[in-house]
Amino acid sequence: MKKMEMLYQGKAKKVFATDDPGLVIVDYTDNATALNGLKKGTIEGKGVINNRMSNHMMRLLEQKGIPTQYVEELSDRETLVKKVKIVPLEVIVRNIAAGSFSKRYGVEEGKELAISTIEFSYKNDDLGDPLINDYHALALGLCTAEELETIKKYAFAVNDMMKEYLLKLGIILVDFKLEFGKLPDGTIVLADEISPDTCRFWDSETHAHLDKDLFRRDLGGAEDAYQEVMRRLMGE
Ligand code: TMP
Repeated sequence: MKKMEMLYQGKAKKVFATDDPGLVIVDYTDNATALNGLKKGTIEGKGVINNRMSNHMMRLLEQKGIPTQYVEELSDRETLVKKVKIVPLEVIVRNIAAGSFSKRYGVEEGKELAISTIEFSYKNDDLGDPLINDYHALALGLCTAEELETIKKYAFAVNDMMKEYLLKLGIILVDFKLEFGKLPDGTIVLADEISPDTCRFWDSETHAHLDKDLFRRDLGGAEDAYQEVMRRLMGE
């Protein structure tokens, strides 16, 4: 597979064309941002960990029946994925109150929610990814009603599978963000990444943060926490 011109530079990843129009290469960097790009830094080694961990989760989810864009891990930082049209929604599933949910609704961080819940943000940096509801997503033409139902079904299924899998490794899945894409034939697939950048992971004994909140909140120790998650998932 030949790596060709860069198509897109995101906040933490770069996307390159290949000699196959249906495939692209994602390259994970150590760049970290928060507050919609206002806070910038690096988490040493993060690109390697996110690439390998995300691929590990994608392979697991594929096996369990969730279609994903994953094709093949090419190197420590590079992965071959199916080219998709990203549905401009950040799909957030929560099991425990934290972050913006705690702030918005005045709920103490760590409170278990009565049910697992889902919310959508409109992926638009200029607008700061505003929270939207199902009707807004349809009114804006971001996806069809049928696609939205598929996305919700997949998101909750991913939650069930990941929650169970991670708990066995001593990790509580507090919340996470997913993105979905559309293949040329219209199939909805899980896209982007699943990593400590996009999930809140708490140690099940101590409730210590094992995720990007250490960077977002200037708590320190992000590198070690990412390594620890990698060690528990992949035994290294
Ligand atoms: P929040 O509590 O800040 O809304 O975040 C909820 C979850 O979504 C958390 O696991 C972090 C993740 N997330 C992203 O991956 N990207 C984002 O831009 C935001 C706002 C949250």
